[in-house]
Amino acid sequence: MLDIKITRTTTPKAKPADETKLGFGKLFTDHMFLMDYTQGQGWHDPRIVPYQPFTMDPACVVLHYAQEIFEGMKAYRTADNKIQLFRPECNGQRMMDSAERLCIPPVPVEDYVQAVKALVEVDKDWVPHIDGASLYIRPFAFATDVALGVHASPTYTFCIICSPSGAYYAEGINPVRIYVEDEYIRAAPGLTGFTKCGGNYAASIKAGEMAEEQGFAQVLWLDGVEKKYVEEVGSMNIMFKIDGKIYTAPCNGTVLPGVTRRSCIELLRDWGYEVVEDHLAIADLMKAGHEGKVEEIFGTGTAAVVSPVKELDWKGDKIFIGEGKIGPVTQKLYDTMTGMQWGKIPDTKGWIVPVCQG
Ligand code: COI
Repeated sequence: MLDIKITRTTTPKAKPADETKLGFGKLFTDHMFLMDYTQGQGWHDPRIVPYQPFTMDPACVVLHYAQEIFEGMKAYRTADNKIQLFRPECNGQRMMDSAERLCIPPVPVEDYVQAVKALVEVDKDWVPHIDGASLYIRPFAFATDVALGVHASPTYTFCIICSPSGAYYAEGINPVRIYVEDEYIRAAPGLTGFTKCGGNYAASIKAGEMAEEQGFAQVLWLDGVEKKYVEEVGSMNIMFKIDGKIYTAPCNGTVLPGVTRRSCIELLRDWGYEVVEDHLAIADLMKAGHEGKVEEIFGTGTAAVVSPVKELDWKGDKIFIGEGKIGPVTQKLYDTMTGMQWGKIPDTKGWIVPVCQG
């Protein structure tokens, strides 16, 4: 159990006047959580302080070698004004797994969840009130040693910031166009694809920018060895409903084990769908699309929730899904996930963790 010292701001910022115009990750709350790691001492000095810039030495390890990991979560305000989280322990465990791969000392799951809850409670007035908006929570940890040798740092900072946010895509829950990336890759066996580390995202930006220039929302990554099998999209996992069955890439090292992915799979299986977590060749997917067998495609992610896809473009070959409309399974998943998260339907799965009264 952490002994968190809380120092409240004396100059609170104005809350957003119009919660329909929040965008994603642009505004930040009044406070942040900090904790330091020193070799020999472990994690120490857990504290909540006014939101403020870091002072960093230009030789700080993270600035050169990207020894950094992060998470993405949300806090939701229910109609009866309770503030709650969704499966925070899953994010805490994933951050431990990322930490292990990046040689960052892990923060135990109980401490992680305690820190998130404490910060959300201090900044509870920042949790948006309108439907579809939430408090996006960004925990991250990075190497702080001042040295240019390529080694694990002996010191780290763990920080949590929060951002009142609306939908991740400008399109909201409207179907998006996705470009299948055929040149660049995101992950390969033995690398860091299964972690949430900044480096994975840095390497993905070029392909994302090129796709956006052509009017696509994001890219769909293929496997890094043969560029043959579908893996995931820039900020979400992806699922395909083909001939009644749901297909998604397996989490065997190159794919991010999404909390929304895992939750959607559990719901789909509860509803009687067969979910196949196996390699799906892009050529087979496109063929099935041309034969009219691809009934729905949707992405799953904390930021994106459940996001329908209306078009895939692979080397100029295009398939169009569901006449550009949201499919029934996509809609049911979206309604069930957001229903539980915003407390509109009962949490039959035990996924909701209360934080405080709003
Ligand atoms: C999330 O869904 O929380 C993510 O971290 C994706 C992101 C890079 C915006």
